[in-house]
Amino acid sequence: MISGSQIAKRVAELGTEISNDCVESQLVALVILRGGFIFAGDLLRSLDPAIEVAVDFMSVTSYGDGTTSSGEIHIAKEPDLRVEGKDVLVIEDILETGLTLGSVRDRLVERGARSVRFVTLLEKTGKRRHAVTPDYIGFQIPDVFVVGYGLDYAQKYRNLPDIRVFVPRTPAYTLDAKVPDDER
Ligand code: IMP
Ligand code: MG
Repeated sequence: MISGSQIAKRVAELGTEISNDCVESQLVALVILRGGFIFAGDLLRSLDPAIEVAVDFMSVTSYGDGTTSSGEIHIAKEPDLRVEGKDVLVIEDILETGLTLGSVRDRLVERGARSVRFVTLLEKTGKRRHAVTPDYIGFQIPDVFVVGYGLDYAQKYRNLPDIRVFVPRTPAYTLDAKVPDDER
């Protein structure tokens, strides 16, 4: 769906935009694990080197092993750094219903962050159920399940260098099923 070079070009643009907006900031980049790790690695390296940024990680899951959100989030790792008085830039792989980023924002506000901004590589259009407005979006995509560049299906495919549509394999039993001769 999106090639590695298209991603690289867009990530560089986002890096420039964020650098221009964050000159005066006490910046903490908060990477949402696990999906955000590859995007964050590239994005952080595309920021203007003059920008001083602390980096922290938070691990949040809302999906089981399937392709639909469970509707509940589980925080497996809280941020370690103090965010009080800081300008937090949350780095996420994909924004769908807004459940994940909405809960992250609420926790950061509770902990006294001075500002919270979101950058998401992908935004699935037409799926939003929670009020979250990303400040920076890499690409808008239709409602399909995608993998690669950090995004997984059942923990696989995060290593792909590009973004691909995930098509489930036809279950083996339909291939082995005995079809009566007169229905062939
Ligand atoms: P939301 O909480 O509904 O906004 O969903 C966002 C989270 O769901 C992301 O952090 C991803 O982990 C996951 N997710 C949503 N859509 C996809 C997809 O197409 N591929 C892989 N993960 C996805
Ligand atoms: Mg995720």
